[in-house]
Amino acid sequence: MRRKISLVPFIFVVTLGMLAFFAGGCKGEPTTNHLQRAAVVETSTPVPTSTPLPTPTATPTATPLPSLRREAKKYNFWIGSSFDAGWVSDDPLLVDMVAREFNILTPEVAMKWEVIHPERDYYDFRRGDGVVDFARLNGMLVRGHPLVWDFQLPEWVLVAYEEGSFTRDEWIDILRGHVKTVAGHYRGEIYAWDVVNEAIADDGSLRDTIWLRTIGPEYIAMAFRWAHEADPYALLFYNDNGGEGMNAKAQAIYELVDGLIKDGVPIHGVGLQMHVALGSAPAADELAQNIQRLSDLGLRVHITEMDVRLQYSSASEEQKLASQSEIYRRVFTVCLQAPGCEVFVTWGPTDRHSWIPGYTGHPDAPLLFDEFYEPKPAYDAIMEVLQKGKD
Ligand code: G3I
Repeated sequence: MRRKISLVPFIFVVTLGMLAFFAGGCKGEPTTNHLQRAAVVETSTPVPTSTPLPTPTATPTATPLPSLRREAKKYNFWIGSSFDAGWVSDDPLLVDMVAREFNILTPEVAMKWEVIHPERDYYDFRRGDGVVDFARLNGMLVRGHPLVWDFQLPEWVLVAYEEGSFTRDEWIDILRGHVKTVAGHYRGEIYAWDVVNEAIADDGSLRDTIWLRTIGPEYIAMAFRWAHEADPYALLFYNDNGGEGMNAKAQAIYELVDGLIKDGVPIHGVGLQMHVALGSAPAADELAQNIQRLSDLGLRVHITEMDVRLQYSSASEEQKLASQSEIYRRVFTVCLQAPGCEVFVTWGPTDRHSWIPGYTGHPDAPLLFDEFYEPKPAYDAIMEVLQKGKD
């Protein structure tokens, strides 16, 4: 005789899974829905499916592997790396690793102007969509990066600037069109946007960019307002490098964002990139102080692009990796302890994907996983911090 099987628990679990899947569409705050979606992958990776995913309670099978994202979830904390869909197209090992370890991704290049807006009247969203699709399928958030920067600009912008082809009003139209089209395309899909990237020089003055020259300093406030109009769900960030400790650049960033807030500009956070080297990372107390004063303005802080170069040190390989792990431990601990710091992103998933060797011309190993995707001492340090818990 066949046993009668009740469908009620099954329908309940599937309904919960569908609710979590459809309600979790990256709208502003990280919510329980995001967490539910992220938790799915911890029990079964990879998940290359477009059907609604079950919740963890539906699959109480094997004990999940320990992972950074699994531990981070306990704190509603988001840990991840920069990413490109091209990296995983032929690399199932990387798919597994990224989906297991991370719950937030930043497109390293895919949303930069040269890639996404190569001609004046033509946008190419394919590469950016690849990042967003991968993140969605694996229950991850996306930090959009960057809407306004003056690097990796397309030829048509550079030529127009060189030839003085446009008036100030026309440049405003061009920048507005770019920000609104890109942020609008990803409306509801992006947790946080780096709206303006690297607009301040090391001495604290405004960096001499095409946007400063053609529009004036107002381009920064304009970009935030346009981004908010195009995607009111996304958190909007100012993102920069070298202002992590309490120095002149950090002071200038503080004054810039303070001014934006006072002018009623929609800005929600500051990204501290954290491209550092052995011996050049900010001290814990300075970093904590900087995060605290930004939080006091009502802003969030994300560590957005961390990597730690080894190449300038003459210590042994083992010593370098140990020192690197202490820097990661220090920065990660400060961020996890600070109520305003909720996201920690490294600039590349593994040493094989780092931009640094190409940029400096020297081999390096600046990230949490080595070129064979094995966790390094830096990974262990972060895992220890997560497992030890907040004070
Ligand atoms: O993909 C093209 C390839 O088709 C072409 O043949 C080749 C020839 O130069 O260029 C390739 O594009 C390069 C791209 O990286 C590939 O990933 C660009 O030239 C190169 O400029 C680009 O560099 C990126 C750089 O930003 C400029 O966009 C780095 O990968 C990326 O790591 C770096 O990231 C920046 C953050 O966005 C902002 N903060 C600093 C950080 C480090 O510079």
